[in-house]
Amino acid sequence: MVVASLHRRTPTPADLTITPRDRRFGRGDKTARWWLGGNAYQTAIFNALSATFPKGEAFFVESVREFRNCADEVLAGEIKAFTTQEVIHSREHTAFNNRASEAGYDLTELEQTVDESLKLLEGRPKVLDLASTMALEHFTAIIAHELLANPKHLAGADGASADLWRWHAVEEIEHKGVAYDTWLAATKEWTRGKRWKVKSIIMLLVTRNFVKHRTAGALELLRQDGLTGWRTKARLLWALWGSPGIFRKVGSAWLKYFLPGFHPWNEDDRELIRGWDATYDYRQEPPAKRVRTAV
Ligand SMILES: [Fe+2]
Ligand SMILES: [Fe+2]
Repeated sequence: MVVASLHRRTPTPADLTITPRDRRFGRGDKTARWWLGGNAYQTAIFNALSATFPKGEAFFVESVREFRNCADEVLAGEIKAFTTQEVIHSREHTAFNNRASEAGYDLTELEQTVDESLKLLEGRPKVLDLASTMALEHFTAIIAHELLANPKHLAGADGASADLWRWHAVEEIEHKGVAYDTWLAATKEWTRGKRWKVKSIIMLLVTRNFVKHRTAGALELLRQDGLTGWRTKARLLWALWGSPGIFRKVGSAWLKYFLPGFHPWNEDDRELIRGWDATYDYRQEPPAKRVRTAV
């Protein structure tokens, strides 16, 4: 087994803990069709994202676990915690998606798009799957940061749905370095130039597909709401790129991925996690198991 001593060579904080918070949201609730502030556009954006999570996150887990033998003990513990978090995220987003279906949406077409994208990846080198996961984990981490830092995005959401998205965001920030550190371990024999080239090309491809497919997914859900035509498209694009503009807001953080020396933990945004943990009442449920403790 190849073992890399990574924890002293990457910017991942030495005192980072990755804690799966095994929570359930909105069980037995009837979620409103336009659960996000009564706004069809904002609801469509978040529902389109959620539709991709169960299968997408299963792919993330598989592609990182493929390289767990390259990890040292610390990173191996993080991979385990990351896996646990993602599996619970999939479970909760499946339940959330079921509530969207009960509210009248048909997510089949959106899920098929994910299947088709994953099918295209079959047979290619596993390290490219890891690079795709790393790119998408950067996406989820910067979107998570924006969701927690800017209350505008979830303004008007019902309590259970807002909690679900914030809880997911917290854990995405917490494990944002795991795929990246796994990549550094898996490609440690590569030159810096080769690493940069591969991760950058994959990020550009992933971004093109992410923006294209999430926009198309949201448009499909709006069509199911009876909203079609150029006005609908323009309003959706404004919601994504104008105001509240989640895509625009994460633009500069996205660009940093291409900087030499980039690492997800170059920005330590754990104060957003502490903010969430401080507001959550753990007396409601047994305390979450702490999977990884300080190094
Ligand atoms: Fe997740
Ligand atoms: Fe993740």
